[in-house]
Amino acid sequence: DRPDALPYDLAGVRVLISAGGTREALDPVRYLGNHSSGKQGYALARAAAQRGARVTLVSGATSDPGTPASVEIVDVDSARQMQAEMAERAKSSDVVIMAAAVADFRPLSVSGAKIKKGDEGPAPIRLDTNPDILAGLVQDRAAGRIPSDTVIVGFAAETGDADGGVLDHGRAKLRRKGCDLLVVNAVGGGKAFGTEDNTGWVLTADGRETGLPFGSKTLMASRILDEVASLVPDGLV
Ligand code: CTP
Ligand code: CA
Repeated sequence: DRPDALPYDLAGVRVLISAGGTREALDPVRYLGNHSSGKQGYALARAAAQRGARVTLVSGATSDPGTPASVEIVDVDSARQMQAEMAERAKSSDVVIMAAAVADFRPLSVSGAKIKKGDEGPAPIRLDTNPDILAGLVQDRAAGRIPSDTVIVGFAAETGDADGGVLDHGRAKLRRKGCDLLVVNAVGGGKAFGTEDNTGWVLTADGRETGLPFGSKTLMASRILDEVASLVPDGLV
């Protein structure tokens, strides 16, 4: 039985979520990675399933966020693997949420054998740019490979700097990515990466800006899904 307090507003809605960090191989035993815990994406998956959605979670590396009930989980390693899974599954999704921390770069070449220390000291690691999965999904939708009414959601972890505050960077990223909704997290000072709490804003392409109160990732997830639900076409639910 579900508590009356939980809305059931995503019944039957197909929600695709990426979570965790990608790992970019250097050789058979080493990779470039990041500290993403996966907690926010997993919290979204759990909350969406509780609200009746049919949820698929494409998961990179995580730090034990707990397996959500009634969620299909697809494990991936690299950004390119994540891109392939997301692009294919987005074709049959009503909502796509890119909560993963995708590595911006990957080693230009992957050594087939373990790299040895040798006598010459470390060789430089040359990098190549990874595909932008989120921007690619927006392009796929524009090109008709993804349904035109599929809602596409991005995340951004931002700090203020000389070029502007967290919100300025968030607004610019929303325009740059072309998604419908961007969740902007204020980071720095121990916020967000690996912690239980978050704070930020949800920005929509049509100019709505909703503050996310300081709270748990579970609370954040339900606030984010409130905004997502408002963008899902009425006939679906
Ligand atoms: N993202 C993606 N593919 C990438 C990099 C990022 O799909 N190769 C997605 C993330 O999952 C997130 C959003 O894009 O939803 C924003 O990620 P972020 O790292 O903040 O943006 P970048 O465009 O990589 O810009 P930068 O790191 O320079 O701020
Ligand atoms: Ca990035």
